Amino acid sequence: MIKFKLNGQYVSVDVPEDTPLLWVLRDELKLTGTKFSCGIGECGACTVHVGGQSTRSCITPVSSVIEAEVVTIEGLDPQGQHPVQEAWRDIQVPQCGYCQSGQIMQAACLLKTYPDPTDEQIDGVMAGNLCRCMTYLRIRKAIKQAAAAAREETPSHG
Ligand code: FES
Ligand code: FES
Repeated sequence: MIKFKLNGQYVSVDVPEDTPLLWVLRDELKLTGTKFSCGIGECGACTVHVGGQSTRSCITPVSSVIEAEVVTIEGLDPQGQHPVQEAWRDIQVPQCGYCQSGQIMQAACLLKTYPDPTDEQIDGVMAGNLCRCMTYLRIRKAIKQAAAAAREETPSHG
């Protein structure tokens, strides 16, 4: 059995150690918000957080997450009200939607590194998250809106 922390709770799964985290999430734990697309770490559809870092779950063996909490789109915010999710809804970013949980998870990590991101910083961090529907301009706009909202929520007192 492999035990790890997922979205705030410990889970145990009976799978081989090298099973990709993506398939543990989707097939064993029925958390289907994390998507499979390329399967080789190239598109970002399967992005989750591992130890607070954005991570491609399709190429991450489940045995490597035992020491670090995994957060999926289902656990990003209990009510789905993370500033990135709020901005995504407000701007209606998705088209087909398939890539979008990965985009949101990547964007949520980006804001931790860049609380007031420039276009270049957004494009740099999001470059590996592909969208066949070409929603990139709305993604950039939503990230800026989410960043502004997050800064309002946690004003600096410097
Ligand atoms: S499905 Fe994991 S990066 Fe494409
Ligand atoms: S919204 Fe369709 S692939 Fe991104």
